[in-house]
Amino acid sequence: MTATPIPSSEMIPMLDLRAQFESIAPEIRAAVEAVLTAQHFVLGPQGAALEQEIAAACGVGHGVGVASGTEALELGLHACGVGLGDEVIVPAFTFIATGSAVSALGARPVFADIDPVTFNLDPDQLESRITPRTRAIVVVHLFGLSADLDPILEIAAKYAIPVVEDNAQSFGATYRGHKTGSMGRIGCMSFYPSKNLGAYGDAGMIVTNDDKLATRLRSLRNHGQTAQYLSTERGWNSRLDELQAAVLRVKLRHMADWTAARQAHARLYNSLLADVPGITLPRVPPGREHVYYLYTIRVAGRAGGARKGVENADELRSDLVQQRLKERGVASVVYYPVPLHQQPLYALLGGKPGDFRVSERAAREVLSLPLYPEITREQIERVAKAVRESATE
Ligand SMILES: Cc1ncc(COP(=O)(O)O)c(C=O)c1O
Repeated sequence: MTATPIPSSEMIPMLDLRAQFESIAPEIRAAVEAVLTAQHFVLGPQGAALEQEIAAACGVGHGVGVASGTEALELGLHACGVGLGDEVIVPAFTFIATGSAVSALGARPVFADIDPVTFNLDPDQLESRITPRTRAIVVVHLFGLSADLDPILEIAAKYAIPVVEDNAQSFGATYRGHKTGSMGRIGCMSFYPSKNLGAYGDAGMIVTNDDKLATRLRSLRNHGQTAQYLSTERGWNSRLDELQAAVLRVKLRHMADWTAARQAHARLYNSLLADVPGITLPRVPPGREHVYYLYTIRVAGRAGGARKGVENADELRSDLVQQRLKERGVASVVYYPVPLHQQPLYALLGGKPGDFRVSERAAREVLSLPLYPEITREQIERVAKAVRESATE
């Protein structure tokens, strides 16, 4: 197709942080101004208040602010006893940080396949991956939807292995009435700017009900200090700064409205796309609340299967649809095109195609569409029309 290029101002983006900022600019400016006036930038009252507010929002006793979601996982796994030569079970389909946090501790990620409906760790694949060296199980709540935690917690309890929830993408989601992040030993959050609750830089938090673990994490994030200039163990410099905490506290006040908006947008997509052939829409199992960090559809097959005689018949249909969406002025992203066992980083672990078929298939088929609280009905209708045309052309 030789389409006229769409001016970038008319492209529908995946995310529009500027629109969100404009809706809360006076509150943000006042919060930043207050920190500038106080001149207290690290480990101060904003961070402490945010920790309490996030812990309360997750329904747990403690929040410990850290510098990023990746370091939340790293410190959290370390505090759960993971170290050199240990094994940690990790889903094969997730963002690389879930695996690299394990590797950073000198431990080995042991991959497990996912459930094809939720894209999350398949409880049936878990037990066979456990060995005497397994020190933790990382459950990722991908795209805004909880994993099936009950059977996972049951298996973990049977072997006395701690469960770490990677809740980077699902703050506010629920599983059988419980908030994600509150059901394992610890929950790890990312406040990366694009997240549902996003800072204006890097930031993260660990939440837990375990008093001792929370105390240790507070020390670990600050050079292992247990008193000023007294370090009891090797720690990190991983602190959530006051400017980010102030921004996050403002945004937290809007989270309920923003989550409701995301959910309404997802319902609109569901109704507009319900009868489009050749695509699969997100499905939410009963007892879970999805917070739609991403609205991810599946587009199966090869281009040659969609239409005979096309150029590049072996091209993935998802790539073809993505290209056609772009020509129609609609952004879309493949989260994630390469499962962890096939990442060059993990070549030494010997992963090969076919090891985790559900993850590999997801990587070939997923396509995330624009969804953010401020997206308009008219924009969603334009995206849906473009998806319909691109999938059926
Ligand atoms: C599933 C998952 N885990 C971990 C992370 C790491 O978070 P951060 O970017 O804050 O280090 C992210 C996000 O980037 C993520 O999506």
